[in-house]
Amino acid sequence: MTMLHDPNRVYVFDTTLRDGEQVPGCQLSTPEKIEIAKALEALGVDVIEAGFPISSPGDFQSVVELSKAVREPIICALTRANRKDIDSAVAALQYAKRPRIHTGIGSSDMHIKYKFNSTREDILERAVEAVKYAKRFVEDIEFFAEDAGRADNAFLAQMIEAVIAAGATVVNIPDTNGYCLPEQYGSKILYLKENVKNIDQAIISVHCHNDLGLATANTLAGVLNGARQVECTINGIGERAGNTALEEVAMVLKTHHALNLKTNINTKHFSEISAKVSRMMRMPVQPNKAIIGQNAFAHSSGIHQDGFLKHRENYEIINPEDVGIDAAGIILTARSGRHALKHHLERLGYVIEKINLDQVYEKFLLLADQKLEISDDDLLSLMSDGEEHTYKNGYKLNSLNVVCGDSQLPSATVKLEYEGLEQEAKAEGNGPVNATIKAIQSIIDKDIQLKEFTIQAIHGGSDDISKVNMRVIFEERSYLGYGFSTDIVRASADAYLDALNKFL
Ligand code: KIV
Ligand code: ZN
Repeated sequence: MTMLHDPNRVYVFDTTLRDGEQVPGCQLSTPEKIEIAKALEALGVDVIEAGFPISSPGDFQSVVELSKAVREPIICALTRANRKDIDSAVAALQYAKRPRIHTGIGSSDMHIKYKFNSTREDILERAVEAVKYAKRFVEDIEFFAEDAGRADNAFLAQMIEAVIAAGATVVNIPDTNGYCLPEQYGSKILYLKENVKNIDQAIISVHCHNDLGLATANTLAGVLNGARQVECTINGIGERAGNTALEEVAMVLKTHHALNLKTNINTKHFSEISAKVSRMMRMPVQPNKAIIGQNAFAHSSGIHQDGFLKHRENYEIINPEDVGIDAAGIILTARSGRHALKHHLERLGYVIEKINLDQVYEKFLLLADQKLEISDDDLLSLMSDGEEHTYKNGYKLNSLNVVCGDSQLPSATVKLEYEGLEQEAKAEGNGPVNATIKAIQSIIDKDIQLKEFTIQAIHGGSDDISKVNMRVIFEERSYLGYGFSTDIVRASADAYLDALNKFL
């Protein structure tokens, strides 16, 4: 059977909620995943990888709920190449309108020998058996050949041919360790196109990791050599150095018209969905991140500013409006109305129906009175004590008093409320933040380690709002949190509690 696909159409497979969510600390609740999945649907992705159902009851439930909530994109569930995993995925996908099972096994000799302690023949048999078994329940089967980046091309071709014959409709060639050079990875895809007899019966998918900073380049090399599905995450999040950034691939294809390749992505949603994912996962976006970083369209050197003002395209290859950055810049000031505020909150990924806009507007006016212009980070800070930041059953910091200076050991007194009960504690430390964390810890009384702690002034002045990001470890798992305040000790305490409330 030869499949009929538009040869110029590139399908976008988003794995923010599976490969992206595997990042320590980035775990989301099912309602949060549904909110992101709906935003991905609005963005126009073709496939949403919703989770790995056998891995935990939470992941299983998320796949069930996402299948009900999202109707347009294909909903995909990951499995290893065994019946138990596949059974779990089939059950989790029962409500999906367009289900896909993503099953697979290692393909490099390294994985075959040291991960599976097996042989090529055995692995090949397991791959075929898994695809045949999954095909009994679901028509759309994607097969992944893990560590294909380092696999022997002849064996990889043999494996791909066998799984297509067994019923795979999409074949994923992951560069699991981000090892390949673009030329190498592109040649691998071309080799499969030229040496797998039934390759026209499946779509080749590329799944690249960014360990050497080459994920986007490798993905493109794959596409230029015949792959027609790209596996990506928003903001490029993912294990270690991350996955291919969806926004980068989509903008490369959009910017280079001559390639004549198109996706279904509405790129105007990028700014909004990037902010939403970053905020919900507590994972800041680096300022110089391509396409959606804070500085992606900022021209600061004199020569650039001069050239830019003479003719925008001298120094700008992408129109900021194409990625959802409002160049006309409805700037928020004390005179801005509710409508402008709503526009900016939506742009930052907030769901307006979930917000008490009148209340936020009041807080906004108070802040706008103190500042000339309100930035995105100011808005995030304003929203940070809203419903999304405080967990319903979590600890709430009712008060914080700190004493520090040259003449005494810093000390902090905190009052924490939990399920209606207020507790107070005082502690000393080598600084005010240390004293505050110790006081909080003495109430919570659990073995929690603070691993990362960054403080950032939003604009730079000493009267500015600070943003604190923290990563804590509890029972060998990471949790991320953030806090905003003009008082860095308060922002630190909020960030610490934000992370803690994820597991307490
Ligand atoms: O990187 C990888 O190989 C994966 C597979 C599970 C598809 O994420
Ligand atoms: Zn991966």
